Amino acid sequence: MRTNRCRWMTALLAALAGAMAHGARAADAGATYGAHWKRWQVQVNVADLASLQRGARDFVGYCLGCHSLRYERWSRLGKDLKIPPAVLQKDLIPPGQKPQDYIISPMTADAAKWFGKQPPDLSLIARYRGPNYLYRYLKTFYVDSARPTGVNNLVYPSVAMPDVLSSLEGLKVAVYRTVEVPGPHGTTLKRQVFAHFRQIAPGSMTRAQFDQFVHDTVNFLYYVSDPQRAERHRLGVWVILFLIAFTWLAWLLYREYWKDVR
Ligand code: HEC
Repeated sequence: MRTNRCRWMTALLAALAGAMAHGARAADAGATYGAHWKRWQVQVNVADLASLQRGARDFVGYCLGCHSLRYERWSRLGKDLKIPPAVLQKDLIPPGQKPQDYIISPMTADAAKWFGKQPPDLSLIARYRGPNYLYRYLKTFYVDSARPTGVNNLVYPSVAMPDVLSSLEGLKVAVYRTVEVPGPHGTTLKRQVFAHFRQIAPGSMTRAQFDQFVHDTVNFLYYVSDPQRAERHRLGVWVILFLIAFTWLAWLLYREYWKDVR
């Protein structure tokens, strides 16, 4: 009796696990998401060295081909992110550049001809656009055959940058829905608005891995936009502690001086 029940339970559990695994795969295949992309947020943290190191590696691998960081030197990057000089030279610095050089893309001035626009320097982009903008920008490329690059972007429509992360993320299309809006003289107009993305081809990463990749890249650009930030925060704590201690000392002194007067 007992073994029977055991077997029955095992079969049920196996069936459940099977159904769940199938559900997860099915969800991945034609998955739809992104209806609320305007509210996507990223938590940047310049104290997270591992994330910054991954971000630096990602930047060199996927962005440096076109974009420079012309206000930061390789040596500074290595020092701030605690990357040993040998690793810095071997894995990050392009051949022919030295640690004391600025982080300059090997891309020539021809870029403007190829893309129709010069890829901007990204040293200050995180200050200029903010981390959430960058996060949404890198996650909302979608297939659009009407564009010369074959892709478009929700944050920056008709962008000249190709979808350089599609091998990781896979391909997705934008699905629209029709809404009716009031037009002139009491008429109604039909307008297409973005509904969600639909994944049409998988990339080498899962969605969660890709989110982490974009997070690290944005975190890195956030650090680059103000390399002093982490140091300032660290010093700030000591400054506040010093002020508290000094206030206490000053108060003791005040009490001592005025003891006889009052
Ligand atoms: C093949 C060249 C190329 C690569 C590689 C590339 N970009 Fe770009 N990027 C461009 C071009 C061209 C533009 C200018 C787009 C425009 O203004 O229409 C651009 C613009 C941008 C902008 C500015 C958007 C804005 O709102 O002003 C950001 C941010 C950016 N790229 C980030 C990245 C990041 C991060 C990577 C690496 C993951 C990367 N790019 C890789 C070519 C590239």
